[in-house]
Amino acid sequence: MKILMISSEAVPFAKSGGLGDAVSALAVALFRLGHDVRVLIPRYGFIAKEKLSSMAEPLDVTLGGGAFKAHVLTSTLPSSEVPVYFLDFDAYFARPGVYGPSSQREYPDNPERFAFLSRAAFSLCRALSWTPDIMHAHDWPSALVPVYLAAEEKDRGFAHTASVLSIHNLGYQGVFSKEHFPFFGLDWMLFHGAGFEFHDDINFLKAGMTTADCLTTVSPTYSREIQTPAYGFGLDGLLRHRSRDLVGILNGVDKDVWNPETDPCLPARYSVSDMSGKAACKRALQEKFGLPVDDSAPVIGLVARLTEQKGIGEMFGPGYGAVPQVLEAMNAQFAVVGSGDAWCEEAIASLSARYPSFKARVGYDEALAHLVEAGSDFFLMPSRYEPCGLNQMYSLRYGTLPIVHRTGGLADTVENYVQDTGEGTGFMFDDLTPRALFNTIGWAVWAWYNRKDHIEIMRIKAMTREFSWEKSASEYTALYGRAIALRRSKFL
Ligand code: ADP
Ligand code: GLC
Repeated sequence: MKILMISSEAVPFAKSGGLGDAVSALAVALFRLGHDVRVLIPRYGFIAKEKLSSMAEPLDVTLGGGAFKAHVLTSTLPSSEVPVYFLDFDAYFARPGVYGPSSQREYPDNPERFAFLSRAAFSLCRALSWTPDIMHAHDWPSALVPVYLAAEEKDRGFAHTASVLSIHNLGYQGVFSKEHFPFFGLDWMLFHGAGFEFHDDINFLKAGMTTADCLTTVSPTYSREIQTPAYGFGLDGLLRHRSRDLVGILNGVDKDVWNPETDPCLPARYSVSDMSGKAACKRALQEKFGLPVDDSAPVIGLVARLTEQKGIGEMFGPGYGAVPQVLEAMNAQFAVVGSGDAWCEEAIASLSARYPSFKARVGYDEALAHLVEAGSDFFLMPSRYEPCGLNQMYSLRYGTLPIVHRTGGLADTVENYVQDTGEGTGFMFDDLTPRALFNTIGWAVWAWYNRKDHIEIMRIKAMTREFSWEKSASEYTALYGRAIALRRSKFL
């Protein structure tokens, strides 16, 4: 099949979270299954032009806001021949951020920027004389691809192209004032007709969800949760309406990047048959963070965007968060890497100053993230909701047992500890409260000190769990087949 992925992120070029990991890894896995898969992302200011090739002809991109000429630069995804096309249009994309100048602030012209990206996807295909069978959009930034396809492009050479929209996070929908609507160049009838309208605003994701042939999300449990008011962010009704076309496909782990046997970021490598390297990683982690170098104390790692989604209130909320209470009550160490909400960055910096057994790095640091995954004994991920979650899967591969809220992809990838038998790969709780979190961290710390035999068994089990992109890619292939059949039936 010919597949075009349209995304705001794709590693190693642009990443703010798991979306960037997932898009590139899926593209490579599909390529390895024999598909002609290509990726389109913007060329942001931080993507150096010098390393990219240039496509000869500029693209004509026409929207309500005007007719524009954009350049396209090209490269490939690492260790593959998957072409990546970079939409090069400085007025919108030559900026230091993907969505805004900081994680707290958005660019005011995001609706224009990402409508432009979606529209340009069709111009690109025309310029390449390449008509994809599938246009696969990811999250709100490319959610207008299915809208343009259904509204106009199907009559301009894309009649046999089907659209798939993947929801990586329903918490981000791309909601903007309807003043931006004329820029899109779509009939006002579509404000309601294509599902843009959301409390009198524009909602990118809702429009895409209304019009895409098939919808996916990134774990089976999350695909059910988002059809309920508790997790639906106001769109659960629409998702129930479209439930026949919605599937949850679990993300995988990119083993070229996240593998304790080969990871170049680690001071020592290890595997199920020789775990000694993990102890060396723990020492290196403690040294690097300035924690007491002590093999007997458990280290609890955390790598995350510090947003409400990740349970930061329950962990660090002033006066009620569980982590300060753990530090008072238990002999356990914390190694934290994260950036995000300002109050939380301040809270972890202040805990670092107060407790010798709590050390945090505020910022974004890939290499350090690898060391935390490898050198920790437990990995904390008490997300309020988690569409899939990659970090807990990385932890499992690194023999670092996750402590998680039973939700979304966390519920689908972690098996709870059974104290009688030593079964399981992590520690789970059902309701996200500081008390439940405190108790579950306490449970893991208890097992560390009292059931080392169980910890060892669980580690091995965790490391041998398969989270393969190959499996996910074959599920996507089946879904693409369905989307094409659906499109044909609509066409006839
Ligand atoms: P989300 O996409 O919701 O942020 P995921 O668990 O799916 O959650 O993916 C998070 C990705 O971002 C992982 O690859 C993780 O290592 C990375 N990450 C998040 N915060 C940081 C940070 N501060 N430093 C390095 N990597 C980070
Ligand atoms: C989102 C979700 C995360 C998921 C990632 C990749 O950012 O928050 O759970 O793993 O996308 O699909």
